[in-house]
Amino acid sequence: MTEDLMTRDGRAIADIERLRFFPATAVGGAGSYVVEEGGRRVLDFSASWGAASLGYSHPAVAEAVSKAASDMGAVSLASCAVGHAVALAEDLLAHFPDDRERRVWFGHAGSDANDAVVRLLEAASPRRGILSFVGAYHGGSAASMSVSGHSSQTHAPARPGLTRLPYPDPYRPQFGPDLVAGAPGRPRPALRERASAGRDRRRLHRADPIGRARIVPPAGFLKGLEERCRAHGILIVVDEVKVGVGRTGLYHAFEAEGLSPDIVVYGKGLGGGLPISAVVGPAELMNLQPAFAIMTAAGNPVCAAAGRAVLRT
Ligand SMILES: Cc1ncc(COP(=O)(O)O)c(C=O)c1O
Repeated sequence: MTEDLMTRDGRAIADIERLRFFPATAVGGAGSYVVEEGGRRVLDFSASWGAASLGYSHPAVAEAVSKAASDMGAVSLASCAVGHAVALAEDLLAHFPDDRERRVWFGHAGSDANDAVVRLLEAASPRRGILSFVGAYHGGSAASMSVSGHSSQTHAPARPGLTRLPYPDPYRPQFGPDLVAGAPGRPRPALRERASAGRDRRRLHRADPIGRARIVPPAGFLKGLEERCRAHGILIVVDEVKVGVGRTGLYHAFEAEGLSPDIVVYGKGLGGGLPISAVVGPAELMNLQPAFAIMTAAGNPVCAAAGRAVLRT
């Protein structure tokens, strides 16, 4: 008798067991259901950590992917203008809620996209300074980890110049009642300190719109933070990797507070389960260094076609 999938997984895959919430296998999936080894159908509330934005085996994605794989599977955006990638970039730009001139960068995952943003911002600003939130997760690669604040990443060194701001959690308050209330009138000490360090410097701020495991902040908190950042010339990066592309009911989660971010990071659900991420930012920043992060297969036709199918659907 052949060994079951769980046993083979334990023997072949590097230890990921501690991250999983419960023992599960998957040999297929359709709609909101995952099919386990043995045929049991399981209703999946996790949507593959947010990546299965249209559920599993969605016909629009399946059709787009198989067509792209059969007519132009391996063309690299690094060597030529690729139809599906350009069209997906145009779709992303068309969905952006402002008319600033913007450009799109493609990657494979939320992690590499946030990595690219960190490098881009450091190249754009002579002084390093990034604000992120305690508990935020921005990825599992070197630079994205270094600006995160998640409890699973305590081994990762913080980026030089990083300040982690408290994040208001109305359900399990950790930082005192005025932060939970949003307190738009009074700067948080950490932000006040960073801002007063140099009014004319370009400083950087990144916000998970529903940060720390998708905890919705009190109304007005993010808007108040945005206003304060604007007043001090701080660029605003919104990580929509988990909450973007319709997941909260709005195309962008940041639209719930009417934010106007400079840079937005997309991943997970953009590819409907296939690996593709994107950064959209102002043209003058995105064009700053042509090679701020080049990857051979980023924006490849198959994943870009999946992204287009997701956005269309
Ligand atoms: C907000 C956020 N940003 C970035 C990432 C990293 O994305 P990926 O795991 O696709 O690299 C995640 C992953 O959970 C995330 O939730």
